[in-house]
Amino acid sequence: MPELGFFSRFTVNFSPLYEAIPEWHTLDESLATCFSSARHGDYERWQSAVQDLPDLNVDKVKLSDTVTLEGAATFSQITELEAALRKLHPWRKGPFELFGVKIDSEWRSDWKWQRVVPHLDALTDRRILDVGCGNGYFGWRMLEVHARLVVGVDPTLIFCMQHQAINRYLKSVQNWVIPLPFEQVPVVQFDTVFSMGVVYHRREPQQHVHRLYTFTQPGGQLVLESLVVETKESLVPGDRYARMRNVWVIPSITELTQWVSSAGYVDIDVVDVTATTPDEQRSTPWMRFDSLPEALHPDNPLHTAEGYPAPVRAVVVGRKPE
Ligand SMILES: C[S@@+](CC[C@H](N)C(=O)[O-])C[C@H]1O[C@@H](n2cnc3c(N)ncnc32)[C@H](O)[C@@H]1O
Repeated sequence: MPELGFFSRFTVNFSPLYEAIPEWHTLDESLATCFSSARHGDYERWQSAVQDLPDLNVDKVKLSDTVTLEGAATFSQITELEAALRKLHPWRKGPFELFGVKIDSEWRSDWKWQRVVPHLDALTDRRILDVGCGNGYFGWRMLEVHARLVVGVDPTLIFCMQHQAINRYLKSVQNWVIPLPFEQVPVVQFDTVFSMGVVYHRREPQQHVHRLYTFTQPGGQLVLESLVVETKESLVPGDRYARMRNVWVIPSITELTQWVSSAGYVDIDVVDVTATTPDEQRSTPWMRFDSLPEALHPDNPLHTAEGYPAPVRAVVVGRKPE
């Protein structure tokens, strides 16, 4: 059991989530233990960054390509805000703008959203699961199109802390980021289930898609986005792919749709195939590590540093039968 003092530092109140999804009450203890230095050595630093955010009132919110919060702030408040947000490096998903501070994230996540959104069943009043949600950027975009509730699941604690920073101002009980792996959350069904950028990181990708199916309401929609290869055969990279160690298999487009079909989904459609460019994924002052340009072959940007085809991503949608 965590000590009592721990709870005084436990900042997220998950009660409204448990009211919306009573089956997840059982997660309370594992969630409490996520917010600790035992889980990540930098937790206390991140938590003080969130606590150091200045108190500011939001006058206007735009959940558009750049998720923007507007309101009055003095120069010194803006300096404090920017310093606290920078302590939550690396900002991989975005962009955001808070009181004039522009967070230019590694990814132009708005580009991915623009590719996905035309193919979604209307999200109005829907309950949505976003597996591997990062800092919850897409959840804000889902609220823009009137989703009722978005639950993001992502085990990387820093992304949950970034979400806390944004939500310190938005105070939303509609967009959640839960710092647990998908495999650890009890099955509850959602109207739309997203898994974007996750399946090729799974050693058992088909099991991942089967699990997505169990979380999908009959009649509900799956949105599966993945790296793909445009060849007949899927690619099983060696030690690394585009300098990433944890890429186990990059499916061909045919294999990706087969995973979706064998899970039980119908009306399957490949709605987008797009090469990822260094304009979409790159280092910025808010993500100072190497990014896609450094992961491409120096003499041939159509190949990765290891000589594999450069990243191409596909979006597949499917429906669970009624
Ligand atoms: C490439 S990022 C994709 C983020 C976002 N969905 C997007 O499309 O931009 C993969 C994300 O999956 C998360 N992830 C890795 N293993 C996971 C798991 N077992 N359950 C849920 N999320 C996971 C990572 O922490 C990371 O944020």
